[in-house]
Amino acid sequence: MKDSKFLTIDEALKKGGNVSLRGWVYRERKSNKFVFIVLRDESNIIQCVISKEKNPEFFEDAEKLTIESSIKISGTVRKDERAPTGYEVSPVSDLEIVQIAEPFPITAEQSRELLYDNRHLWLRSRKLNAVLKVRHTVVGAIHEFFRSRGYYEFDAPLFQPSMSEGGSTLFEVKYFDNDKVYLSQSWQLYAEAGIFSLGRIYNMGPTFRAEKSKSSRHLAEFWMAEMEAAWMQLDEVTEVAKDEIRFIIKQVLKNNRKELEFLERDISLLELYEKAEYPTIKYAEALEILNTKYNMDVRWGKDLRTQEEAKIADHFKVPVVVTHYPVEIMGFYKPPALPDNPEEALCFDMLAPEGGLEIIGGSERSLLVDDMIQRLEADGEDPLQYDWYFDLRRYGSVPHSGYGLGVERVIQWICGLENIKDAIPFPRTMTRKKP
Ligand code: 4AD
Ligand code: MG
Repeated sequence: MKDSKFLTIDEALKKGGNVSLRGWVYRERKSNKFVFIVLRDESNIIQCVISKEKNPEFFEDAEKLTIESSIKISGTVRKDERAPTGYEVSPVSDLEIVQIAEPFPITAEQSRELLYDNRHLWLRSRKLNAVLKVRHTVVGAIHEFFRSRGYYEFDAPLFQPSMSEGGSTLFEVKYFDNDKVYLSQSWQLYAEAGIFSLGRIYNMGPTFRAEKSKSSRHLAEFWMAEMEAAWMQLDEVTEVAKDEIRFIIKQVLKNNRKELEFLERDISLLELYEKAEYPTIKYAEALEILNTKYNMDVRWGKDLRTQEEAKIADHFKVPVVVTHYPVEIMGFYKPPALPDNPEEALCFDMLAPEGGLEIIGGSERSLLVDDMIQRLEADGEDPLQYDWYFDLRRYGSVPHSGYGLGVERVIQWICGLENIKDAIPFPRTMTRKKP
């Protein structure tokens, strides 16, 4: 098989006829006369039939094959209704065993935790293979979305001297001998410096939050895709966010139908989200809907809880942008809606339907140095740490806005995953840091 040109299984299905494949044993079944191998590679699976009568030279070797053994195999692709994907390689003309795998630790009935312990092996599962292909599309779509609209990619440090999203979720890192820094909670504060040079910028990078929660929607290390734009205000930035989500869904529908079908995702819903207009409502209107339509009792001044976000999202059945949350529960940089509604912040979240996941958070940025100093002090922060940030308000200040999109949240929603841990190759949470 030395000189063979190897095809992926998908390429072989397209071409038909005689093919050479290489991959791993996904399943195997033996009878007296046959060894049935389901071969797996990055593209698909296909059954290969090795026959005692026709393949005497390697039939005995084939009998030794175990799950995840690596092999090269040649033969003829044929339609066969009984095979798992409707096609099989039969007859097989050649088999080369690359390695006989040791007994694979993952079998059909596995606890979730064992799957996470064996994440390095579980990545081979068809489920994660499908999710990772969707992830590839989502990440590519985000770059394409911003680059095609004239945004520059701009990088910020991951070691940062202070918080941006609240001190309670900071990861502290020893910095040389006697100093400390924090892992980035957001690219934003540095992006606010970048826009004075580049105008409109974006980034996608690792983000760290010491979330002391075991929820199915929080990671300690996740990827955030953020944008920041000079001169942009709340009404405009929320429309950019809606366009970005529609574009991501469009690209996933274009490239990943097979994966979505494998994941049993309701594709008609994604087709709806690709085309739909997404409503924008104020926090106050969200409360009214919750309290009048759903008999809940949510008071002004509280952040929306998961179940409340879920109700709002289900109410609209498409992604919904909620703006003007109470200033008192918002980050120091989210400005009050002056002059008429100082208790409301010029900020927004986007909630995804089918569960109410917060997939995006953003805002206009405060230009009021004194107000920010007060709010930082109220949170126990040292405003001196932010003096460079306040410079951005001292030297040619302009209105500006931005937002951050949780990449794994978007993947979780698009793929219909129960847990966000399956949206990233190696999840990190309060209780999981290995492998
Ligand atoms: O709403 P957040 O905290 O906003 C910011 O960090 C802003 N500085 C972003 C900006 O304006 N540039 O986070 C943004 C998004 C959330 O809406 C959520 O989708 C995701 O990041 N996110 C998380 N995803 C997974 N695990 C976590 N622990 C997350 N925390 C936030
Ligand atoms: Mg948020």
